[in-house]
Amino acid sequence: MDAGCGVTARVRAFGLPGSRPKTLTPALAAGDHAGMGDSSDSVTGSTAGQAQVLAGNARFLIASAARAPSVHNTQPWRFRISPGAVELRSDPQRKLRTDPSGREMLISCGAALFALRLAVRSLGYLPVTELLPDPAQLRLLARVRTGAAAPPNGLERQMLDAVQHRHTHRGPFAPGPLPPGLLAGLQHDALAEGATLGLVTGGLAYDRLERITAAAARRGDLSPRARAEIRRWTRTEAGMARDGIPATALASRTGRPAGRLPQRDFDLGRGIARLPSGGAPPSATAVLLTPGDRRADWLRAGQALYRLLLHAASQWVFASLHTQPLEDTTTRGLISSQLALPGHPQMLLQLGPATTVSPTARRPPGEPDSP
Ligand SMILES: Cc1cc2nc3c(=O)[nH]c(=O)nc-3n(C[C@H](O)[C@H](O)[C@H](O)COP(=O)(O)O)c2cc1C
Repeated sequence: MDAGCGVTARVRAFGLPGSRPKTLTPALAAGDHAGMGDSSDSVTGSTAGQAQVLAGNARFLIASAARAPSVHNTQPWRFRISPGAVELRSDPQRKLRTDPSGREMLISCGAALFALRLAVRSLGYLPVTELLPDPAQLRLLARVRTGAAAPPNGLERQMLDAVQHRHTHRGPFAPGPLPPGLLAGLQHDALAEGATLGLVTGGLAYDRLERITAAAARRGDLSPRARAEIRRWTRTEAGMARDGIPATALASRTGRPAGRLPQRDFDLGRGIARLPSGGAPPSATAVLLTPGDRRADWLRAGQALYRLLLHAASQWVFASLHTQPLEDTTTRGLISSQLALPGHPQMLLQLGPATTVSPTARRPPGEPDSP
């Protein structure tokens, strides 16, 4: 389906899920994607033996979840092992001041939730997930238990293997096309999580997006609040921090290659960025959309994001992520209307092949402090 202005969103191909009372993931047609769904079997998820599985693997589960991407690598999450379940909570002390609604914090936590579900799959169980289980506890975002036993399928294994090299790609892309069928697979991933991946296919749509994001980047880069957050969450090479973005994962801003959306100015004239710029243009530009724009939608967007990033990384395709233009309400609305988007934009992505990895650190499981 062409959603206007060159943004292709194959909404009809898989059908958007309707209401999801307890499980997050609608059943999929067939094949490897089907294994990623939650188990709806709450009885099998409640045995003492399976509760032991979670408790016995707590460190592994939390460390796996923490590999998820998060805005500025803030890692705004906390995990608690309760009887028979892993609880995911937000950590508002790690919320950016440029994110007053907590949208980016919840997308980040949604990514950690997908990581947790995938880690449960690696233990040989389907996850049973309750999203926002207690409206009285705003910070409690999800509870994950083990459901029916089922070994991970081929795609899940590939995604698990990709966890270590998946990264946000700010350096040069390698030349060459994406593997055949990958983009359709990523769109499938998004739909399976209740989101949509719209592809910006036409030159006109890309030009509009580029123009809007360049103007937003100029304004955003000058904002004292945004600059303060970047100083707070970027690390020089000498630093030992386990959060924030290291200089080795930042690209110098000289010479933005054609076809690449502007990146945030993480360097701020300090000369800390260590990645070169240049390289081949990205192979695809995409917008991650959700049907609504509430907390549950943001959590779904995060799950969709990490799922498709891991799927792409399993084929050595990586993404640069762009949320700076979506932090401003007017610019976000402009992107929606100018691209005739069939949903609320949560993230802009550019995908391309690469052979290099720029890893970022994570806090060890159990580290309680916030900066
Ligand atoms: C909600 C969200 C927003 C993000 N926004 C940006 C962004 O605007 N620019 C950028 O370069 N990276 C962005 N990122 C990527 C994070 O900086 C990255 O995930 C984090 O530094 C951890 O690094 P990794 O993804 O390489 O593991 C975003 C990630 C998330 C989850």
